[in-house]
Parts: sequence; C-alpha cells; structure tokens
Amino acid sequence: MTAAEFVVVANRLPVDRVVAPDGEESWRTSPGGLVAALEPVMKTVDGAWVGWAGQADLELEPFEANGIRLIPIALSEQEVEEYYEGFANDTIWPLYHDVIAPPQFHREWWEAYVAVNHRFAEAAASAVAQGGTVWVHDYQLQLVPEMVRTLRPDVTIGYFHHIPFPAHGLYAQLPWRDQVLRGLLGADVIGFQRAQDATYFLAAVRRRLQHPVKGSLVEVPGEEGSRRVLAKAFPISIDTAPYLELIQKPEVRARAAEIRKSLGDPKRILLGVDRLDYTKGIRHRIKAYGELLTEGRLSVEDVTFIQVASPSRERVDAYVHLRDEIELAVSRINGDFDTMVHTAIRYLHQGFPREEMVALYLAADVMLVTALRDGMNLVAKEYIATRADNRGVLVLSEFTGAADELRQAIRVNPHDIEGLKDAIMTAVEMEPAEQSRRMRSLRKRVLEHDVKVWSSSFLDALADVRAQRS
Ligand code: G6P
Repeated sequence: MTAAEFVVVANRLPVDRVVAPDGEESWRTSPGGLVAALEPVMKTVDGAWVGWAGQADLELEPFEANGIRLIPIALSEQEVEEYYEGFANDTIWPLYHDVIAPPQFHREWWEAYVAVNHRFAEAAASAVAQGGTVWVHDYQLQLVPEMVRTLRPDVTIGYFHHIPFPAHGLYAQLPWRDQVLRGLLGADVIGFQRAQDATYFLAAVRRRLQHPVKGSLVEVPGEEGSRRVLAKAFPISIDTAPYLELIQKPEVRARAAEIRKSLGDPKRILLGVDRLDYTKGIRHRIKAYGELLTEGRLSVEDVTFIQVASPSRERVDAYVHLRDEIELAVSRINGDFDTMVHTAIRYLHQGFPREEMVALYLAADVMLVTALRDGMNLVAKEYIATRADNRGVLVLSEFTGAADELRQAIRVNPHDIEGLKDAIMTAVEMEPAEQSRRMRSLRKRVLEHDVKVWSSSFLDALADVRAQRS
C-alpha cells in the first residue's frame, strides 16, 4: 500500500461491520460524532484511517470503504476488556468527567493501554508518508503522539481531545499522570474543546513536569534542544449539510408529524438524545420531569417526554447499573401517570438512523441537554441545525463544551433539580417570538462554525508548525 500524506488515528474505524442473515458482510458508515466530523476531511485528502473495527479477535487486512483507506487494528478479547472497557472507559472516562462515577485504577489495565497504544502508533508510523501528518484522536490513545514521534520524527503530529480534561486536583489521582502528559506532549498541536480544558492541561504540565509554559505554548526539553507544543481550544462542531438536506424532505417532515400524532398530539414534546452514559444527566432530567408531573405543573395530556438512550459500553459495571436505575425511574413515572392514550416518557433504548433522528428533532418543541460533564455535546448542535423555522427551545447544561458557544440556550445546572424544573417550565411556556430571537442567534453560531471550520482551524495550526520547522 502506498504511503498516505495524512493519517487519522482513532480508537474506532469510521465504519461498522454489518453481517446479513445470509452471512454476507458489508461496511456501513458509523453514526458517531467523530466520524461525522472527519469524514468530509478524509474525502478531500490522500488519507488513511487507523482504527479498531469494534469486535474482539477480528484480524482484517487494510481495505477501502466509502472512499476512505482503512487500516484495522486487531484487539484480543482480553485487550477489549483491559484497554477499552477497562483503562479507557472505567479509568480515564470517569476520571476526566469529574469522577461522576468512581474511576478504577488497575496496573494490568494500564499495561494493556500501553501495549495497544503501541500497536496503533506502529500502524500509523508505517502508513504515513515522509514528512506527512498524523492526527490522533481522543482519550483512548493519549500515548500515541509520543510513540509516533519516536518512530517517525519527520512527521507532524496533531492530537485532539474530544472529552473534558480535568482540574489538577482530580487529574493528580491518576497513578500514570506523568506518562500520560508526556504521551500527549509528543504532538505538535494539542486541541481541546474548551479554553478551560487547555488551561487545566497546561497547569498539569507545569506542575507535574515543570516545563516552561507561555500562553498556549509549552517548551518541551529534548536532546536536540527544546520543542514547542501548542495547546489550545478548537471547539468541534457538526457537518450541517446532511441536516439541512433532511429537513427539506417531505418524508422526514411527514414522519415528524406522524410521531406527534402517535403520541396523542401533545401540546409540547420534550426530547433527550444521548448515549446511555452517567455523564449525560439522564436521571436528573427524569427526576425533574417526574416532579413537575407530581406537582401538577405539567400533565401527560399536554406534554410527552421522548428519551432516546442509545446502548453504550454495556459490559462496564457503571453502565449496567445506570441502565437499571433509569429504567426503574422511567417505569415508575409511566406507571403513575400514563393513560390509555398518553404516555409520560417514551423511552427508547435503541440507536436510530439519522433520518429518524432528524424527524425526532423536528417533532421536539424542547430539547433537553442536561449533561453533568460533556466535552462538547453535538446533539445540541444537531437540534439547532434542524430548526430552520427558528422555533424550538434548547435547555443546555453549563457543564457542556457547547455552553461556551450557545449563549442563547436556557442554561441549567443539572444538579439543581428545582432550577432544572423551572428551566423546563420556561422552555415549555416560551412565546414564539422569544423562541425565534434565541434560535436565530443559536443557528447563526452553528451554521457559521461547522465542522469544516473546526478541522481547517486545527489543520492550519498544524501546517503553521510544519512551515516553521522547514
Ligand atoms: C465519545 C468519545 C468517542 C467515542 C464515543 C462512543 O464521544 O469521545 O471517542 O467513540 O463517545 O463511545 P464508544 O466507547 O462506543 O466508542
């Protein structure tokens, strides 16, 4: 295979393996935010994507799907448990999301993380052309930048961190805190979602490694003099084009009307769309809504709440417990308030294709994003992109990256249940003129700062580094 000028390294490949009943296999573009963000970039460059196909013990040769060259990384069953479910999703994920769930620290998981990061780094180092660019993504691969630099000092390396970076008091709990910082500092440019994340990272670098930090630049000492690393915020966004297209389609609009009708034509539809994850504040949202029903401030004749909770990381204990808690809360509320015609909460533990999601967004009068901590939250931006008539209200947690940009949303602290209840009532009762005033400004922000603006600003910063070097 010829060497690629531009190599993306992410835990997941941008496609999912689909096996038909007759055993025939095919690949379908996966629905995640990272894929949606990078696919348009990959189609315009000579690129390759290094990633895991999402199943244990699947050994695959490099192949092409939807015009993207893919380099699959195999993980054994034990590596899936220790690297992916263990270190990535039961150590780093909870630690970096403000220990909403307690992080587990296990030395074997760390060893698996190091070994798997090596495998990704080696694949990237063999795929990239002389003087090319490697762009590493997210918390599963924090050691890869330094590993690629050691293997291929000629390439320019970017790293983008899609999730929050924690305050130092929390970060300091990580037994391998210095190794992880050194791993990240192998990159030339380190991108974060919020200015706050970059600030926390730079503080950790200063305190743990004592490297000099000036503004957004770190001086990393090395054998051949020091190297400068840029660490700053590049807030990610969505590709708005498919959303703007889908909202024009008569069948999608008809589906939105059908959804409303099938729920007994409530005056207001509230919507939550999340991976079933403890960071998303789904329980807080359900609690607030249930209390509003109990207090008679809302009634099921007038309002239905649709919660889409797509299955995620189902073998990790914290996710198993969360699902039980949410399903208990939903069924209690429905048991207390449902009628033969109306339901309080229509709960869907399923993932849906984008067409159906857009129909749901079109049907929703109020979108509830109540994450306790979230790197960005692209659902908030997707909802806004679909509201071409400038109607609809976004309730948005201040603990999301999106809150830095989406100033005209109704901001909430999801821990404050009374405040959350009042915010839901404000959203439900908001006059159309006020909805339009807010939505117009939200849409301007999302449409102007789409994923192309994000990727080009990150890649421009990388190109500047390369220009300074040569
Ligand atoms: C978040 C992370 C991504 C991850 C996605 C889905 O958005 O930032 O890196 O791919 O969740 O999680 P999963 O564990 O299924 O890849």
